[in-house]
Amino acid sequence: MRESTMMTHDEIIPVITIDGPSASGKGTVAQRVAKELGFHYLDSGALYRLVALKSLQEDADITDEGALVEIAANLDVVFENSDIYLDGKQVTDAIRTEQCGALASRLASCQSIRESLIARQRAFRQLPGLVTDGRDMGSVIFPDAVLKVYLTAGADVRAQRRYKQLIEKGISANIDSLQEEICKRDERDSNRKVAPLQKCLDARLLDTTSLSILQAQNRVLEWYRACNATEERI
Ligand code: DC
Repeated sequence: MRESTMMTHDEIIPVITIDGPSASGKGTVAQRVAKELGFHYLDSGALYRLVALKSLQEDADITDEGALVEIAANLDVVFENSDIYLDGKQVTDAIRTEQCGALASRLASCQSIRESLIARQRAFRQLPGLVTDGRDMGSVIFPDAVLKVYLTAGADVRAQRRYKQLIEKGISANIDSLQEEICKRDERDSNRKVAPLQKCLDARLLDTTSLSILQAQNRVLEWYRACNATEERI
């Protein structure tokens, strides 16, 4: 093999990125695809939510960029199966509140906070492969992903899905304020200067407004298998 075509260790580990707006169902689809393929899974939004939770716990000044970067760079976090531990305490549901989501979205517009989370995210790229979801997984963190998906759905459908999710977790919610919050978050995540939420040119669009989770999951799996078949022919 010529040197210029040799792949690095990381490049041979396949990554599927699923980016999209809040409550689009990308997390559920990504987890299921990962399970189906036996791949690792990274919920990158959880990292921003963890920074938000920790800054709330520490009553940090959210205008103090240095303090927030310090929190982000030193997060003591463990992902274990479907649970997340911060400083040894289980925070799986605690990070899912709208308060954490809204603060995460605000903190995520700060470049230095984002930079302090890059290495942690890339470390999830392990054999046999990784499925990850977020806002900039395909554009910034894993630009060489084998398959990039932009998963979305109408804001009303997303609000209903988030409502159902919260109620199932025993967290009270109001559907109208959820939809308003989702639209605000979309606006902030899409219009920020650093790593905005966007559909990369090389991402495939998956609109799940009228698809079931299983249909969405199968579409991603079909696309991934098609990528592999093409690579094998080449
Ligand atoms: O996916 P989520 O709702 O859990 O993410 C919470 C917030 O974190 C989201 O509003 C924006 C931010 N985020 C980001 O900026 N980049 C990512 N890759 C993932 C999340």
